[in-house]
Amino acid sequence: MASFNPIDEILHHVLSLSLAPLVGACGIDTDGFTAVACAGAGGAPYLSGIAPRDPADYVELRELTGPAGTATRTRESVGVRCAGAADRPACEQKIAAATSGGGFSLGNCVDFCPSHVLIVNTRDEVLVLDTRDEVRAWLGPVDTPADAVLAASLDGYTVPCDRPDEGGVRPSGGAYEVLATRYTQICDPVERTLYVLAVGAGGDVQELESEVIASEPGVCIGRRPAGLGRTAGRGATRVGAYFASVAQLEAASVWAFEALGRELAQHRAPRPLVERARLAGRDEVRHARLMRRLSARHGGRWEPPQIEPRPVRSLEELAIDNAAEGCVRETYGALVGMWQGRCARDPLVRRVMARIARDEARHAKLSWALDAWLRPRLSPAERRRVDEARREALAGLEEGARRDVDRELVLCAGLPDEQASRTLTRHFAEALAASPPPARI
Ligand SMILES: [Fe+2]
Ligand SMILES: [Fe+2]
Repeated sequence: MASFNPIDEILHHVLSLSLAPLVGACGIDTDGFTAVACAGAGGAPYLSGIAPRDPADYVELRELTGPAGTATRTRESVGVRCAGAADRPACEQKIAAATSGGGFSLGNCVDFCPSHVLIVNTRDEVLVLDTRDEVRAWLGPVDTPADAVLAASLDGYTVPCDRPDEGGVRPSGGAYEVLATRYTQICDPVERTLYVLAVGAGGDVQELESEVIASEPGVCIGRRPAGLGRTAGRGATRVGAYFASVAQLEAASVWAFEALGRELAQHRAPRPLVERARLAGRDEVRHARLMRRLSARHGGRWEPPQIEPRPVRSLEELAIDNAAEGCVRETYGALVGMWQGRCARDPLVRRVMARIARDEARHAKLSWALDAWLRPRLSPAERRRVDEARREALAGLEEGARRDVDRELVLCAGLPDEQASRTLTRHFAEALAASPPPARI
């Protein structure tokens, strides 16, 4: 790891300490952290560079993947096994047989979470460390950047490797600061938080600063353009990050309607349809602005969407996209907006969402009008594929409605909770099946 200028160290240290009482008030400045290089398997190394209290000949981090340690995998190792052993075969055998019914976890894990044990070999002795406290005691004082990363990982934080904006380490006031992430919400929205951690000499970990860096709502917000990259909002609060991600999707909708207007013109669609697409694009400019304001009011930080330009689509491609994005998602989005306009605790959110919902309802009508214009221009096989896209989009809505919604988003932003979402999507699907909305150009 590279050395760090002492003045930078002082500045960052003082800033971090000063911001600590105001956790979440400002975005995190990631300057000055040295990124952690990825190990061979692509993950961050846990052992390379650590300085345990007592030197060992060989240290192995072993993953226990089966029940009660029945299946194992060497995650990482340093040193030479049994290098100083008097009875090498016996030593090798002890290492091979080492396992545990327990184990500790490393990093932040929300899905498949293996346990780990640390196998420490010094001369003929083979120790199995299977608790975090044993590993901390064995590690001794945190006196290298790698020690600090391991301490943060033992505490349940992930230090992403080769990601200087999300993972790194820097010395600070005789100890270390570690940049790390953790999932703070795994349902709708999925939310990841970035932390600056103070790792003390004893391996104690304290959160100095935090910032929600990724909030991905599952609700439908406007029409997404083809070529839209991954969307996520940032912010000091969940509500702020949520509105930041909505602002990003609204900004993406501007693109979607501009592209749609151009494509419709090229396909010689009736002028009113082309004009309605252009007007919808202007609505989305206003929505993005309103959402940016709401986001800022709740500590969110907006970033423009990343959209890859795409060539003009065929009529079938347009119809498939319109069936999913317009007839289903944007129409349902209007419904959710209306819900928010009634249920949000924040009166400003209620007003803004009610206004946006009116526009979205108009966009939904445009989608159905477009559907009516496109269908007669498609072959029976193409029309079946359009129907399939609509069914899939509806199924996606119903799937999304089964996820929990953060309580703060339900209260403040007025999002329907899990039960309300299920009811809304069910009624919506039933209504579409019973009588597809009439469309007039
Ligand atoms: Fe919108
Ligand atoms: Fe819209």
